[in-house]
Amino acid sequence: MKTTVKTICNFILIAVISCSNSERQGGITGSSANRDNQETEITYVPGMSLCKAASYPVGVAVSAEKLGDSRYAGVVRREFNSVTAENQMKMAYISVAPGKYDWERADAIVAYAEKNNTRVHGHALLWHESLPPWVENFEGTDEEFEAEIKTYIQAVVEHFKGKVASWDVVNEAIEEDGSWRNTVFLQHMGEDYVARCFRWAREADPGVLLFYNDFNLSSNPVKAQAAADMLKGFLPVDGVGMQMHIQVETPAISKIADAVNIFTEMGLIVHFSEIDTRLNADDKLTELTYEAALAQENRLGEIVDMYNTIPESQQYGITFWGLRDNESWLLSRYGTDWPLLFTETYEYKIAHRGVIRAFE
Ligand code: XIL
Repeated sequence: MKTTVKTICNFILIAVISCSNSERQGGITGSSANRDNQETEITYVPGMSLCKAASYPVGVAVSAEKLGDSRYAGVVRREFNSVTAENQMKMAYISVAPGKYDWERADAIVAYAEKNNTRVHGHALLWHESLPPWVENFEGTDEEFEAEIKTYIQAVVEHFKGKVASWDVVNEAIEEDGSWRNTVFLQHMGEDYVARCFRWAREADPGVLLFYNDFNLSSNPVKAQAAADMLKGFLPVDGVGMQMHIQVETPAISKIADAVNIFTEMGLIVHFSEIDTRLNADDKLTELTYEAALAQENRLGEIVDMYNTIPESQQYGITFWGLRDNESWLLSRYGTDWPLLFTETYEYKIAHRGVIRAFE
């Protein structure tokens, strides 16, 4: 009886504390499975939503289709006040042909955000892993290639002007050894292509925040320094997105802090832009154990504690790379894992508690 009352109270509390200013959704979907709330449970009943507890935006990677599901959208609305398109603002999705654009899915994400008073982070104008066929197989001259890329960047930035708060202008341009990644962009446009892309984006929208986004910046000091050196070279950069695809043990917090300091000392805003935590890198688990869930809770707590030390004016926020474990991109890449904050049935993992506690 006692626990039932507690559950109902939490239910009401969550309904009231939604970050969204508009339509409120019902209670905690799926949380009733965890009524006992014992200390060995991998899920729990939250007392607070992420975006209410945080002093900076908390985001999640989404798709238009998922946001079309009312249950999914209800959890996103309650927990997050920033969204990133997991894929649908990438070039392969938007650019049908030179000068021809498909805005539909990206616009649907923006429409969700407008309705729910949610920030949109644009991801990503250029990424070598999301190329439409016409870019991959370009047959014109380098000058023509560059002109098309400029047109594309400016068309996208203009289309979302006033709707998207920020853009990852170039994603993953640097190799692990600090050299330029040998992409189709480098091949056609030369080494200062990143700087030119930032300038074109800035021309198209003087008000939007421009980020460089990459992975392993927190685990690889050589790469972080190479990114910093690159960014020192040009003015229109506002921030850096550190993707934060991390594991439970690595990288060490001190390493993450060192990388963050490189960027904050340059005056850049820092976005932990794609957080997920692999619990099963050695492939020993076939189900999520309490120990692994607890390790994830503690790990996310220390990650957020670290993020909290960044000066407020340089905190862009933190974004989780998906909502539920079953939808994480890591599963198809590495196999069984539980990298996110929610179960497939929308139960709150104790990882969520780790994040909330660090916000408080
Ligand atoms: C991933 C998406 O999550 C997948 O759905 C897609 O198949 C490939 O891209 N770094 C990034 C993200 O910057 O855009 C990637 O997202 C994950 C790695």
